[in-house]
Amino acid sequence: MNWIKLFPLTILSSEDFIKKVTVSGKKLCLVKTEGKLFAIQNKCPHAGAQLSNGWCFKGKIICPYHRQEFDLETGRGADGQNNYVDTYPIEIQEDGVYIGIEKPWWKFW
Ligand code: FES
Repeated sequence: MNWIKLFPLTILSSEDFIKKVTVSGKKLCLVKTEGKLFAIQNKCPHAGAQLSNGWCFKGKIICPYHRQEFDLETGRGADGQNNYVDTYPIEIQEDGVYIGIEKPWWKFW
């Protein structure tokens, strides 16, 4: 796992946000809601909308196109959706906020 610094610690006291970022070539949706930070894939698995254009409600992100919901902790879609989004770990270290990105399998060889 590669840990990549995303923000200085001051982000922890900022307003809530939903941002689109690219980290290690992955397009991600970063969310700060109710004091917690989350990182998920930005592309909605339903029809490809950008989840970073959505909104949060009770620990879930709501896709702006067809209103499908995804749990920010687990990535699971709501009952009946039968889909999920990839989630990425966030870690707060002494010098900032980091995201964990798995090394691609081809870099192990
Ligand atoms: S594209 Fe996200 S719910 Fe349809």
